[in-house]
Parts: sequence; C-alpha cells; structure tokens
Amino acid sequence: ESTLGAAAQQTGRYFGTAIAAQKLGDSQYTTIANREFDMVTAENEMKIDATEPNRGQFNFTNGDRVYNWAVQNGKRVRGHTLAWHNQQPGWMQQLSGGSLRQAMIDHINGVMNHYKGKIYAWDVVNEAYADGNSGGRRDSNLQRTGNDWIEVAFRTARAADPAAKLCYNDYNIDNWNWAKTQGVYNMVRDFKSRGVPIDCVGLQSHFNSQSPYNSNYRTTIQSFAALGVDVQITELDIQGGSATTYANVVNDCLAVPRCTGITVWGVRDSDSWLGANTVPLLFDSNGNKKAAYTSVLNAL
Ligand code: XIL
Repeated sequence: ESTLGAAAQQTGRYFGTAIAAQKLGDSQYTTIANREFDMVTAENEMKIDATEPNRGQFNFTNGDRVYNWAVQNGKRVRGHTLAWHNQQPGWMQQLSGGSLRQAMIDHINGVMNHYKGKIYAWDVVNEAYADGNSGGRRDSNLQRTGNDWIEVAFRTARAADPAAKLCYNDYNIDNWNWAKTQGVYNMVRDFKSRGVPIDCVGLQSHFNSQSPYNSNYRTTIQSFAALGVDVQITELDIQGGSATTYANVVNDCLAVPRCTGITVWGVRDSDSWLGANTVPLLFDSNGNKKAAYTSVLNAL
C-alpha cells in the first residue's frame, strides 16, 4: 500500500493524526493529512475549555471545523476529551464538590449530545493517574469530588451516546513495569468486573528520553486487551524520530488483535506540540516523508 491509512486498513486498523483547526487553510498540511490518514483527533478543539467556555454555553465552532473536514474527506473521528484536569475553562477550575461533579456530568452530556452517533471513540477521562511510584490517582479538582468520579464519567458517557466506544487515555502507561501502568490496569480490571462501561484504553505514547519506548510495550498492550478492552495508540510521537522505534511500536500493535489503531500527534515536525526541533513525527517541517515514515509504512 502507498499510504499509512490504506496500509493500516489491510489488517482492519486505522492510522490517524491530530488535526488543528487553525491549520486547515495550509494546503501542504491538508494535502498530507488527507492523503495519509483515515482517523482524526482534534488537537485542542473538543477539549473542555474550547467546547464550554462559559458554564452551560457550548461552542462547537472549531470542533465542528475539524469534524467536518474529517468526515468530508472520508475519515472517522476520535473525540478528545471530556473530563480532564488540564485545559479546563476558568469557571470549572473554580468549582469543587457537588457543583463540579454536576458540571462534569453536564459537560459530558452537552458535548456527547452534539456529536451523538458521529464519534468512533471518546477519550472520556484523560490523565487521571499520578506520575511517579504511587500507582494512585492524580490529585485534581475532579479527584477531590470523590474517587468514583471516573466511573460516573463513564456511566454518563454510555447513556449519552451508546454508539461511541468509551476510552480511558493516559501517558506513561506504556511501560508495563511502571506503577502508573499498574494503577490504570487495576482500575480497568475493576471496571470490567463491576460492569462499569469501558471499551478501550488509549496509550498516548509520547516517547522521549525520560519515558522511552520499552520492549515490554507489547506486554502492556496484550495485558490491557486481555481484560476485554480495545487498545489504541492515541498520541504517538518519538523525540528524535527513530525509525526503528517507530517500527517497534507498529509491530507491537499489529501483534495484538485488539490493538485497533494508531494515531500520531501531528502531521509535520513543525506541527508538533513538542517543537519542530524535537523531530518527533513522520513528515519533516517541509512536508517530506522521513525515514520514520517509510519504516512505519513497511511495518504496517
Ligand atoms: C496538547 C496539544 O498538542 C497542544 O497544542 C496544547 O497546547 C496542549 O495539549 N496529552 C493530551 C493532549 O492528552 O491533549 C495534549 O495535547 C498532549 C498531551
């Protein structure tokens, strides 16, 4: 196959990218993105601050730009993200307790209702586990509403759009030996055993020297899948852009039937949230295919 999306489709998978609404006028960007990818995640436009800038007043202008570009070009969309400690609007940052809990529920309902039946999978909860060795929850205003906030978010989401797959998404849960990975694993196992609705786990997979790719990545993917959830690689970037590491990531996903797709977090190096100089993506800042691109295409 000659594109990432078509190559991924050969095994029933997808290959996606993050899309930024403000770049949709850049024809080099849209040409590459349209040609290569068959799944789209809005890089920022469906986050809480973007979609509910004032409590109860929803704004889908930029989210819809990304959504419409994707669907008009035959691509599916992952929704990102409904409940998160970051990129909360100011009004939400100031809430706590029961009013924050209700605001979270109202936000999930408002956004999922707008996109009802249109989203392949939602990152319902993002980055709720703590870094370091505790294996426990991250302290946040949402966590302080009560430990059950994650399952409340998932139950609310299932009722709001039964057609969407519901994912838990996080970073540094790719290394099987890390406490954070085990914390999330135990939560998913608990949710499955108690019937809390969860369909997928997103491994963000931002690899760098502090949190490098580890050869136990395949074990992590297999272990989550064995709990009865799909696994998706949701925000892949590799600082330095190692072609070998990119191939390893693809091979690990392809080794697990329930690893259903891979999304890279941007198109060209110049589009990366990490800065162009970290060269973490598959196309260089001039839009040329890199060695990592060829490596991924050959592995798919
Ligand atoms: C990043 C975006 O790429 C940036 O444009 C924005 O300034 C900050 O957020 N984990 C996530 C993503 O779940 O939403 C983040 O995206 C990267 C880390």
